[in-house]
Amino acid sequence: MDFDILWQTCKPYLEKGRPIDLAHTRISTDFAWRLLREGIKGDEDIVIPAIMLHDIGYSQIDDKDVYMKTTFPDKANAQYDIHVKELHLTEGAKLAEKILKELNYPARLIPPIVEIVRTHEDLQGNKPDQSNMNRVIVSDADKLYRYTAYNITSGMTMHHRKSEETFRFMFKNIDTWLCLEISKRIAIEELRKLPYDFGQINKELF
Ligand SMILES: [Fe+2]
Ligand SMILES: [Fe+2]
Repeated sequence: MDFDILWQTCKPYLEKGRPIDLAHTRISTDFAWRLLREGIKGDEDIVIPAIMLHDIGYSQIDDKDVYMKTTFPDKANAQYDIHVKELHLTEGAKLAEKILKELNYPARLIPPIVEIVRTHEDLQGNKPDQSNMNRVIVSDADKLYRYTAYNITSGMTMHHRKSEETFRFMFKNIDTWLCLEISKRIAIEELRKLPYDFGQINKELF
């Protein structure tokens, strides 16, 4: 499969979703490729479409506060909205199926991809089914984005958090959010690249 055709098809939807969706999806796709290249046993024909399509459902939600409600819920009077979160899974699954069929993607690969899109986030915050390595890779690639400068910077801006406080929060959650050991190492690598003074914690990083 030429994944570039799929990516070009996803782009207008991602631009229509949350302001971060295009960059988030592109960067998470890069992480998914890296995990596959590091030797994690996944099927790229399932993993790559699933990560490209995972958040496409936000394009179908007509709510001006969707980003705040699902990403930074304690700001701008935006309450965390589990319904919106759920909707991006169900709408995303429907749209993913439609796009893959229109692109004549191999029929046998569509159900496992759609299933990952539909379940990529657990609304209770539980980790994914560890027996499905494709799903684990998508989950880790999605969450690794949180460790990039993009997310850390917007987190600090939106929450007015200090760099050390943000850093401790991210550091503390590595084991909670990520499944694979390689993903945990990549998260640390990303944190190391950030040009902030993390105070005491810098000593633990370098
Ligand atoms: Fe999502
Ligand atoms: Fe995501």
